[in-house]
Amino acid sequence: MMRIGLAGLGAAARMVLPIFATADGFELAAAADVRPEARDDFTATFGRPVFASIEDMCKGAKIDAVWIETPNQLHCEHALTAFAHGKHVICAKPLGISLDECERMIVAAQRAGVLLVQAHCRAIDPPVLAMRDVVASGALGRVIQTETSIHNDWLQRPRLAEELDENIGGGVLLRQLPHQVDIVRAIVGAKVTEVYGATGRWDSAFATEGNYLGLMKFEGGASASVAFNGYGWFDTTELTWGIDGLGRRNRVSKPAAARRAGPMPAAEKYAATAKPPASAQDGYAPIFGQTIVSCEFGSIRQSPTGLIIYSAKGRRRVAAPPNIGRRAELLALRRAIDSGEPAYPDGEWGRETLRVCLALRDSARTGKPVAP
Ligand SMILES: NC(=O)c1ccc[n+]([C@@H]2O[C@H](COP(=O)([O-])OP(=O)(O)OC[C@H]3O[C@@H](n4cnc5c(N)ncnc54)[C@H](O)[C@@H]3O)[C@@H](O)[C@H]2O)c1
Repeated sequence: MMRIGLAGLGAAARMVLPIFATADGFELAAAADVRPEARDDFTATFGRPVFASIEDMCKGAKIDAVWIETPNQLHCEHALTAFAHGKHVICAKPLGISLDECERMIVAAQRAGVLLVQAHCRAIDPPVLAMRDVVASGALGRVIQTETSIHNDWLQRPRLAEELDENIGGGVLLRQLPHQVDIVRAIVGAKVTEVYGATGRWDSAFATEGNYLGLMKFEGGASASVAFNGYGWFDTTELTWGIDGLGRRNRVSKPAAARRAGPMPAAEKYAATAKPPASAQDGYAPIFGQTIVSCEFGSIRQSPTGLIIYSAKGRRRVAAPPNIGRRAELLALRRAIDSGEPAYPDGEWGRETLRVCLALRDSARTGKPVAP
């Protein structure tokens, strides 16, 4: 039995809490959050020890690993605390908010002899793994390009000012772009050599970026594009059978009649986001926007349960492995412990994804292509 301590009990943690009901060999052993109401809620629901800091949880709870779901700018600090207590870490994306932070996390894990796994990594979404495997098999020849695009209501959801503050690791380039970089890196399977990006700030209620486009070149000649619009007018889920990034059906967000006037105070945001998410386990694959892969002898896109492959053999459907949601991270940790191999996705994976995100940001600021 591996005992997990959950650090942070906000929106992302609510996708993690339900998995323990069906995660054989894993136990939700404790949690930590600075908000007393979040701690009270955890005690009432799970009856497990809960702490006001990660340090206290590491000292006071019997845990083997810390799963970090605190704000981006705290990932490094919280991971270093966990490593200092000899705990494995599963850490939400982005791994850190600078390459230096990622490096410190990777080195600290190595020194402590424990593992670091990146959580919420779309490189391990079953359809992305299936696309990766078709590309790697060479059945469609070499990969030429991958396009991934998502429009959603990210900026219209309840947000704290700090979540949007690009100076401390907030904003869409560190909150949404890592997902798309994870997708294209996994599928192409090569190092990104050049990034060109453009970003925009088109909602005057928010002093933050709400959209971006990026073009990436990879070693070996493939390229990829990423597109994101978070202003909440159109939802790409409409193009993906109503299935969202968690594999939930009927999730097309509608343009809000009343636009948000800006970020919210903490009490208001957490009251507005207190509901647990609907089940992500209803038989559909997670579909985070639209991803289309072009190869020399065919193309691939997602279906509700896997892939559709277009080639000289016609159009055929291939099932992806079942959607196990965030249990995937627990299995990644377990596999790495059992095999002695690095975890997939590990700290180095997370650092490389951040490197590409930062390069896109630099390119957008300077107007020039950037080598990450
Ligand atoms: N919201 C999502 O849908 C989503 C999805 C995937 C990944 N993530 C990632 O999850 C992380 C958290 O995002 P979120 O949306 O849950 O934010 P959130 O603000 O909803 O939750 C963060 C939680 O951390 C707690 N916290 C803050 N400082 C703390 C401290 N020092 N010690 C202990 N707890 C502390 C807060 O009280 C809050 O409960 C981010 O890294 C984000 O990129 C979020």
